[in-house]
Amino acid sequence: MCGIVGYIGEKDSTPIILNGLKRLEYRGYDSAGLAVLDNGQIEIRRDAGKLSQLEALVSDTPIHGKIGIGHTRWATHGEPNARNAHPHIGSTGEFVVVHNGIVENFLALREELSAEGTEFKSETDTETIVHLVEKFFASGSSLEDAVRKTLKHLKGAHGIVVMSSREPDKIVAARVGNAGGVVIGLGEGENFVASDLPAILEHTRRAVFLESHQMAVIGRDRVKLSDIAGNPVTLHVQNIAWDPVAAEKGAYRHFMQKEIHEQVRSLTDTLAGRVDFDEGRVMLNDLNLSTEKARKIKKIIITACGTAAHAGMVGKILIERIARVPVEVAIASEFRYAEPLVDEDTVVLAISQSGETADTLAAMEEGRSRGALLWSNVNAIGSQAMRIADGCIAMQVGPEIGVASTKAFTAPLLDLYLLAVYLADLRRVIDPDQRFGLVNDLMGIPALVGTCLDREEAVLGMARRFKNTRHMLYLGRGINMPIAYEGALKLKEISYIHAEGYPAGEMKHGPIALIDKAMPVVALAPDDPWYDKMISQIEQALARGGEVIALATDGDERIPELTEHILWVPATPWLLSPVVTSIPLQLFAYHIASLLGLDVDQPRNLAKSVTVE
Ligand code: AGP
Repeated sequence: MCGIVGYIGEKDSTPIILNGLKRLEYRGYDSAGLAVLDNGQIEIRRDAGKLSQLEALVSDTPIHGKIGIGHTRWATHGEPNARNAHPHIGSTGEFVVVHNGIVENFLALREELSAEGTEFKSETDTETIVHLVEKFFASGSSLEDAVRKTLKHLKGAHGIVVMSSREPDKIVAARVGNAGGVVIGLGEGENFVASDLPAILEHTRRAVFLESHQMAVIGRDRVKLSDIAGNPVTLHVQNIAWDPVAAEKGAYRHFMQKEIHEQVRSLTDTLAGRVDFDEGRVMLNDLNLSTEKARKIKKIIITACGTAAHAGMVGKILIERIARVPVEVAIASEFRYAEPLVDEDTVVLAISQSGETADTLAAMEEGRSRGALLWSNVNAIGSQAMRIADGCIAMQVGPEIGVASTKAFTAPLLDLYLLAVYLADLRRVIDPDQRFGLVNDLMGIPALVGTCLDREEAVLGMARRFKNTRHMLYLGRGINMPIAYEGALKLKEISYIHAEGYPAGEMKHGPIALIDKAMPVVALAPDDPWYDKMISQIEQALARGGEVIALATDGDERIPELTEHILWVPATPWLLSPVVTSIPLQLFAYHIASLLGLDVDQPRNLAKSVTVE
């Protein structure tokens, strides 16, 4: 996950920035860099690899200055080398930018700027930002206005920090959407800016979190906040407790809420370094998979528990549809007792955020003992499931503290999509046009998730309306059937409301008997190939006097005629729709539990890592 740190004050900014970047080191990165204003000149040091490499470089060729910005990077556009590392500098050497997020329209911007004579030094999308700032500054804008104008040209979600030798008394920071936060730390005669609180906490406890579409001009003694349109915004200063756990929670009430909101960033990071949008290719190097091995695979068995198993169910559809490899989903606690049909042409793929779930590890061992190739999709780096696997897709979500998994659910959905495209490519079952189409669909996903998060208020209203219900039925079909399971699991585990996820087509075979006013039905009816079927399920539930909360795609005209309770989601390519439909259901469960005053992050009887059978 990318990290940002900046400083302005009377001290030397270099050690402050390097220390701040170190605090973000646990998130992992592939390159790092910093820029300082040294005697009126911008000096930059950047290197690929771990932060220690950058530290060594700075120690060999020191730079000092009272204002500076730094960055750790996970590559999205362009390989992880020194040239592509942030900060990026403009053509005149007077502007530098660090950035979290993806400039979705960077190809068009790059072409436009190149046509005007701009020479690009890197392959990154971020470099377009610094050239735009430079261009608007040159046409008479202040640094602040140049950044504001630049933001209007960028598509996607961004956290941006800019510094310039032309206005050496300030740093300009901005946040659009949810590609990571921007937090300002207030000091005495000095101020800090970072993507994450831990990076600046050793210096100050007074923090201001930028909301989406806000900008800050940060001076030594003053911070000025405005919205992107230029209207002034009052500073809301929060005093952060020293407790590092509380500090990590930032502006959110619970870790679960924070982690739900981190998904734009975790999904951006999931794509980073693995998807080459220009070539329309996916690379999963840590799977250690040759073309020959990929073509030998006869079957994949996905094994997992709980939420991870729900991700696996979506993965089955993705891999079978895209890569045409048969997939079974085996509940890990059953697998080793099932005499599974596994041989050396079978892959056993374990999904686990903790990587330490006893049942999942036992299933992996069962696979190993029968000669299968072992893969894992794991969040906890260095965990057992990662260590014992022959190949791994590491989730890029950072620590997940809330017991109810949220960001460690949507990341594997994308990981499995990437796996499906990667396998399809290696096995030559899709043509280049299909591959480009599938890869291209990924680009907008973080922003679509951001759109769902921006609608939290509407979900909160729905939670208020239904918080006192005792039972709920979640229905879905096809690729959104596992999301109905997952929505129900989220609700039951944190709110203790009885919730069942059910394949909607099975309703008429029994569960329909349960439907009455006291059993609201959550019906997932996004614009996917099962939409018409779901409409008739909604009609059936309504005919039995049930109350229906429908999840529908923006612009749908049929669903509002059936029910007034609608959770709207933006239009999404259907193979990726589970990533988007998950978000309102996570928020719905979260807000119900939170309104009920429950211990959202540590629900009763549950643990983050289930290390017993
Ligand atoms: C998720 O909200 C649950 N707490 C639980 O179902 C969890 O997904 C399951 O225990 C598997 O955990 P793992 O991903 O760490 O293997």
